[in-house]
Amino acid sequence: MTTPHKATMSFSDGTPSVDFPVYKGTIGPDVVDIRKLYGASGKFTFDPGFLSTAACESKITYIDGDVGELLYRGYPIEQIAVNCDYLESCYLLLNGDLPNPSQKKDFEHRVTMHTMVHEQMSRFFQGFRRDAHPMAILVGCVGALSAFYHDSLDIQNPEHRFISAIRLVAKMPTLVAMAYKYSAGQPFMYPKNDLSYSANFMRMMFGTPCEEYKPNEVLVRALDRILILHADHEQNASTSTVRLAGSSGANPFACIAAGIATLWGPAHGGANEACLQMLDGIQARGGVAKIGEFVAQVKDKNSSVKLMGFGHRVYKNYDPRAKLMRETCYEVLAELGLENDPSFALAMALEKIALEDDYFVQRKLYPNVDFYSGIVQKALGIPTSMFTCIFALARTVGWIAQWNEMISEPDQKIGRPRQLFSGPVRRDVKPIGNR
Ligand code: ACO
Repeated sequence: MTTPHKATMSFSDGTPSVDFPVYKGTIGPDVVDIRKLYGASGKFTFDPGFLSTAACESKITYIDGDVGELLYRGYPIEQIAVNCDYLESCYLLLNGDLPNPSQKKDFEHRVTMHTMVHEQMSRFFQGFRRDAHPMAILVGCVGALSAFYHDSLDIQNPEHRFISAIRLVAKMPTLVAMAYKYSAGQPFMYPKNDLSYSANFMRMMFGTPCEEYKPNEVLVRALDRILILHADHEQNASTSTVRLAGSSGANPFACIAAGIATLWGPAHGGANEACLQMLDGIQARGGVAKIGEFVAQVKDKNSSVKLMGFGHRVYKNYDPRAKLMRETCYEVLAELGLENDPSFALAMALEKIALEDDYFVQRKLYPNVDFYSGIVQKALGIPTSMFTCIFALARTVGWIAQWNEMISEPDQKIGRPRQLFSGPVRRDVKPIGNR
């Protein structure tokens, strides 16, 4: 919505000043529409890292980092986490509102009917070394899905887009579990469609053909919550990658593979793994008694040590997902009789000290979701190398909802950032003998 205000950019080099419209979102900061800047002034804006740039308009997820609020389609994450399951959250993100009972049943049925992957996919796995990182396998296999579903790759057809979304949400747990089973040298488990989405995934991860797998309800709920909390998070690096890849008209499976590749980086999806390694490191040096020493190291400007699981580019308050994850952490550890688990006791002590320490208070560094999610996943029996795959599984619905939103825009354009060029000016190639 345009506001009555305008922004004026003036220049000290004689270029005439330019007026821009200012838009108001339903919530969040106003934005200045600078699309006409180049045409009017011959100048670009410069914003590496997108610190002040809204790259798109979206109706899906909203974060208020100052107060620590996360909304999916307007609903607070705290309410979704206690009232909805993951598939309801998927429906919400994809369709704009929560399902009623019959819509929920229909959606669950559609997802369930697509959980198997083509039998030929299993041969792809054999091409990887046993010690391949599961994220390497996932990037390859998700991209390869585009080779199997030619019947639904017309991205201009909303029905095709919907089928692709369902296929991706349905097949990700199967592929992630296959990546794990392959690394463990165990047989792949086919999906079992009378189980819930999360129970089915746990069975494919931890079951074997030798005996019946009985999902534990508390642990299934914990996994479901991990998936809900990671389902979408606005225009982060992987989501922006999916949008950029999709803006060229690439198929949804290829776009999601690009998102998975971006998520793999330690500054994005790899932080919970790093947090667990940090806790293990402190534990090895003496545990709670060594926290003071560790915190001093974190605060030392000459050391590069960071308190992993603390701080966030957007949240300058408690990450609301971290509170929910902490609750789940308590439930899981109690269920498994691990209340005295050293990693959790250490995490609690570390959190308390950091929250009271001036260094963290002044910089508004609060725990983020990764601070607890690694501990929960470890307790569930998920190996550290699989943490980012679980994140990718959860985030697939957010990526595909954002991709679909972008493709549905009537005036959608290919994403094509410009640059501030600081390389050599035009010069001539000398014959090789003269160089
Ligand atoms: N430990 C110690 N100091 C920190 C931390 C931390 N975890 N995070 C930020 N700081 C300090 C910085 O050194 C800087 O201090 P200075 O002002 O004295 O120079 C100040 O706080 C501001 O930090 P920035 O790096 O500018 O914050 P930015 O918003 O760019 O970084 C980030 C955010 C990358 C998440 C950072 O906080 C970090 O590295 N945290 C640890 C890794 C982590 O937990 N990542 C998970 C992110 S959540 C997710 O992806 C799901």
